Amino acid sequence: MRFEIFTLFPAMFESVLSESILKRARERGLLQVNLHNIRDYATDKHRVTDEPPYGGGGGMLLKVEPIVRAVESVLQGERVPIVLTTPQGERFTQRMAADFAQYPRLAIICGRYEGVDERVRQLLVTHEVSIGDYVLSGGELAAMVMLDAIARHIPNVLGNAESAPNDSFSSGLLEGAQYTRPPEFRGLRVPEVLLQGDHGAVARWRRASAIRRTWLRRPELLLNAPLSDAERYLLGELADELARGVRSETDALP
Ligand code: ADE
Repeated sequence: MRFEIFTLFPAMFESVLSESILKRARERGLLQVNLHNIRDYATDKHRVTDEPPYGGGGGMLLKVEPIVRAVESVLQGERVPIVLTTPQGERFTQRMAADFAQYPRLAIICGRYEGVDERVRQLLVTHEVSIGDYVLSGGELAAMVMLDAIARHIPNVLGNAESAPNDSFSSGLLEGAQYTRPPEFRGLRVPEVLLQGDHGAVARWRRASAIRRTWLRRPELLLNAPLSDAERYLLGELADELARGVRSETDALP
């Protein structure tokens, strides 16, 4: 998959692209990230990319011409989703990450300062995306968040084929408790079932742990999570436990 990122600060992306999963995906040719400096497309002597808004008010807006020139010269008329990162956008989700990963090529315009000239939206943008209800100094961090979450859905990017479906949200649930060695640390023991090698029992324990954690932390996710009848019954038991004041996230369920 190919990303075309339009930004005033391409250097911000370097460390994120040069480590771990994204680095490996690029080396293996599964992911290509082209960074385009919007400033290179400003035509005036001082390469101005921002101006104060008409009508006054504080702050600076990204100008329309350099962005349009940059995007048009890179995309060459190809029909590609063009995302603008903005706190006014639709909230980014795991579902959206999986959907964007279906495209062979995706453009992201990183908003900056107090915003962008409205005509950028009118002329170019197909999707406006926010990564959460808070304001960042610019869209670069949001673009990196999206890039990382989308790349995880590109086939073969993750080493272990199981990891993506088990990730929190992919199953509609948060991921449950997990342990690695040693079996006991400061008196805290790993649940016995995980040490015994019964794969069916382990799978049931994990599922129950995920449901428990989701119930305790993000109960609204359970409204849409695909649960079996037996699992819905477990929710009733959890509700009883809560009513009795038991609130452990890690205990196995019956
Ligand atoms: N730019 C500034 N804040 C942002 C946010 N929360 N999401 C996406 N882009 C942004």
